[in-house]
Amino acid sequence: MSARLRTQVGIVGGGPAGMMLSHLLQLGGIESIVVEARSREHVEERVRAGVLEQGTADLMIESGVGERLKRQGLVHRGIELRFDGRGHRIDLSELTGGRTIMIYGQNEVVKDLTDARLAAGGRVFFECDNVKVAGLDAKPSIAFTATDDSREIACDFIAGCDGFHGVCRPSIPAGALTTYERVYPFAWLGILAAVAPSSDELIYTSHERGFALHSMRSPELTRLYIQCAPDEPLENWPEERIWDELSQRFATIDNWQLQRGPITQKGITPMRSFVAEPMQYGNLFLAGDAAHIVPPTGAKGLNLAIADVRVLARAFEEFYQSGSRASLAGYSGACLRRVWKVQRFSWWMTLMLHRFDGDSAFDRRRQRAELDYVTSSRAAATSLAENYVGLPMDPV
Ligand code: FAD
Ligand code: DHB
Repeated sequence: MSARLRTQVGIVGGGPAGMMLSHLLQLGGIESIVVEARSREHVEERVRAGVLEQGTADLMIESGVGERLKRQGLVHRGIELRFDGRGHRIDLSELTGGRTIMIYGQNEVVKDLTDARLAAGGRVFFECDNVKVAGLDAKPSIAFTATDDSREIACDFIAGCDGFHGVCRPSIPAGALTTYERVYPFAWLGILAAVAPSSDELIYTSHERGFALHSMRSPELTRLYIQCAPDEPLENWPEERIWDELSQRFATIDNWQLQRGPITQKGITPMRSFVAEPMQYGNLFLAGDAAHIVPPTGAKGLNLAIADVRVLARAFEEFYQSGSRASLAGYSGACLRRVWKVQRFSWWMTLMLHRFDGDSAFDRRRQRAELDYVTSSRAAATSLAENYVGLPMDPV
């Protein structure tokens, strides 16, 4: 016998999309239950993205979960593009009428949201096994096992916020979704190092040996990424090799120095572009990585997940206030216009900055010209900047 629960919106996945959705629904007076496969510690310690668009940071603050972000987040007004041993600053703020980005770890976002949900009496189940969704066409339910008890939640709707490898998207009947995909022939090796950042701003560097990115989490913690082969085992990357490779890729003609320090975390992330259309089926709505993946070069994955649930929360509010399904019916269409623009930007940044082994001499020259253009034309730099700080969250 399984314990039966009931809620308005059952949310599968307690990452940024799921926890933000649950938080926004609560502010709108709508009940939800979050079902998360991993432990709370795991979700809160998982190091992933770190750049919040201004719209994402604003939403955290406006919705009452931005206190720590305001204290600890690092406001950045520009980024550097580095190639041929020279740095070129893109002044994001000046090019976008004063907009900025915020450096604040994704795990910190999840921590703030989880704290807020639990403090407000929200129901969140961690360490759930055998999660299954059913009844998508009519009366949806979520079944799972947690602390050895099986449970079933009857809901009005399900939000599939369970990431790329979750159960919600594959539960949609074959033929109801069309997927679009591009897999890149490389991955990113990401590290966290206990050393002060070597620059005040992010540095995206394009080098003969491959791409590298300098980012940070705090004045004492540097986050670095390096383009590597997709199938390369982590053991092939001892600390010495990582630092030597990074130093070569960041080298400048005026002898810029990368500070080294103890590596506290490392991992390899494959790179893909993926979209499932439509982002809904019956009473199931997909949001975030469950519906789409972008390569991380434009720092967009987390921001896109937050933009989706903002649209979804409003659609649920409209339904519960007026009974109208109009915004729910238009959810996928409203999100996909923005999703595809962000796909385009992430693909373009990836192509401009990475080394593709099969590239001809022509391709390399064209890539070099792209970097030259974007760092010397105000129009081109403005296009990069408006995408990087974030396209408007509200569908236009
Ligand atoms: P997720 O964060 O994936 O959350 C989904 C949640 O669902 C997880 O907590 C998962 O445990 C849970 N779940 C999965 N299956 C089930 C199930 N069956 N039942 C219940 N719960 C389930 N983006 C960037 O912009 N920059 C980066 O540097 C960057 N690095 C990344 C590194 C890695 C290893 C990964 C995987 C992604 C990275 N991303 C990065 C992308 C970014 O982190 C994601 O776009 C973002 O996490 C999307 O949020 P989400 O809530 O949609 O999905
Ligand atoms: C970070 C990640 C990104 O994908 C990116 O483009 C910039 C910064 C980061 O983790 O800090």
